[in-house]
Amino acid sequence: MWGGRFSKTLDDQFAQLNASFRFDWRLYDADIRGSIAYARALARAQVIRDAERDALIDGLVQVKQEFYNGTFTAQPSDEDIHTAVERRLGELVGSVAGKLHTGRSRNDQIATDTRLFTLDAIRNTQHAILNAQHALIEKSEQHLDVLMPGYTHLQRAQPILFAHWLMSYFWMFERDYARLTDCITRVSVLPLGSGALAGNALAIDREFLARELGFARVGENSIDAVSDRDFIAEFLFDAALLGVHLSRLGEDLVLYSSAEFGFVTMDDAYATGSSIMPQKKNPDAMELARGKAGRVIGDLVTLLTVLKGLPSSYDKDLQEDKEPLFDAVDTLGALLPVVAGVIRTMRVNADKMRAALDAAMLATDLADYLVRRGVPFREAHRLVGAAVKTAEARGVALADLSLDEYQKIAPEFGADVKTIFDFARSVASHEIGGGTGPNAVRAQIAQARAVMNRREQKAKKG
Ligand code: ARG
Repeated sequence: MWGGRFSKTLDDQFAQLNASFRFDWRLYDADIRGSIAYARALARAQVIRDAERDALIDGLVQVKQEFYNGTFTAQPSDEDIHTAVERRLGELVGSVAGKLHTGRSRNDQIATDTRLFTLDAIRNTQHAILNAQHALIEKSEQHLDVLMPGYTHLQRAQPILFAHWLMSYFWMFERDYARLTDCITRVSVLPLGSGALAGNALAIDREFLARELGFARVGENSIDAVSDRDFIAEFLFDAALLGVHLSRLGEDLVLYSSAEFGFVTMDDAYATGSSIMPQKKNPDAMELARGKAGRVIGDLVTLLTVLKGLPSSYDKDLQEDKEPLFDAVDTLGALLPVVAGVIRTMRVNADKMRAALDAAMLATDLADYLVRRGVPFREAHRLVGAAVKTAEARGVALADLSLDEYQKIAPEFGADVKTIFDFARSVASHEIGGGTGPNAVRAQIAQARAVMNRREQKAKKG
C-alpha cells in the first residue's frame, strides 16, 4: 500500500499490533457504502470514466456480498477494513481498483465509516429503548391498582402505586432516547473529502457525497473532520447513562425479588438456579443489567483517555476508538431486550407489597391533616413525631393510638383522624401532575403513550 518508500516488510509482532481488521471488519457495510458514493463522486468530477465507475461499483457490491455471506477470506496483509476491501476489489476488477483511492485517505475514510456505523447504532439502540418503554407501560397498565411502599434512603417513606414506581424508569429511558436523537445532529456530518487532513484536491462534490450517504451536512474543517471523535464520546456518554439507568432498575428488581421483599417474582425464563443449592432462584438478568453498566462507563472513559492530549488531525491512537464503541453497542443491544423481557414476564405480588406498608408511612399524611386544621407544618411535623414516639414506646402501630392519646398530643386531632390510616386514601390524595394518585398516574401513562406515538410516527417517516 505504501511499499514505494520502504525497503523492509513489517515486523510480525508490530504488524499484529498495528492491524485493526480483527475488529474493524464490522465496518464493511459502511466502508463499502462510502466507497460506492466516492466512486460516483470521482466520475462526476471526471477523475474516472463512467465505465470505470460502474466496474468499481459492481466489484464493491460483490465484496459486500462476500462479507454478508461470510465467504470473504481475509489475508494476513489485510491491515484494516479499507485495505481488505481494496485488495479484494483489485482481485475482482483488476487495475481499475487502484483508482478508487484517488484523493481519498484512510483518515477521512475511517471517520466516515465510523459515523455511518454510529448512526445505525443509534437507530438500533433507540429501537431497543422503545421496546423496553412499551414493556414498562404495559406492565403499569396491568397493575394500576397495586400499592407498594415508596422508599427514600431505602427506608419506607410513603405509599405509592407500583405503576408509578415502574413509570419512573420510563422517563429515564425517555431522556436517553432524546439524548440519542440530539446526538445525531453531531454524528450526521460528512468527513469524506477531507483527504488526509488538508482537503481533497480533485474538486469532489462533498454535498453530493453527503446526500448519497445520508449525512445532514458536510464537515467545515478538514483537520477537525479527520480527528473529531467527539461524536463517539457523546454516544458513549449517552450509552453509559442509559447503562446507569438500567443498573438502577437492576438493583431495584434484585432487591424486590429477594425473599425479604418478595414484591416481584422473576419468570423462570429470566432466572437461573444454583449448581449447589437446589432451592435457589437467582435474578441474574437484572444483576447483569446492574453490572454491565460498569463496562459501558469504562468504554466512555477509555475513549476520553485516548483523545486527551492528542495532537491535532489524525493519529493512530484514534484506531482505539472502535473497540469501546462496538463494546457499548453490543452490550446495550444484548441487554435491553432482556430487560424488556424481565419486565413483561415478572409476576407482581400485590399482597406482599401491601403487607410491607406500615402505618408509620402515613405520618406525613397525619401532619398534612393537622396543617389543614391550621397548624403550621413545622409544628405539625413535631407533633406527629411525638405521636410516632408514643406509639413506639407503647409498641403499637401509629394507627392504634387512641383518639384520647392523639388529642393529648394536639387538640386539633378529631375523630376523623382514623380515616388517615388508609393507604389507598393516602395515594389518592396525591392527585397532582407527576404525583402517585391513580388519576395522575393514568394521565402520566397517557402522556407516555403520546410520546411513544410521536416517536414511532417520526421513525416511520424516516
Ligand atoms: N485503521 C485505522 C483507524 O482505525 C484507519 C485509518 C488509518 N490511517 C492511517 N493513516 N494509518 O484509525
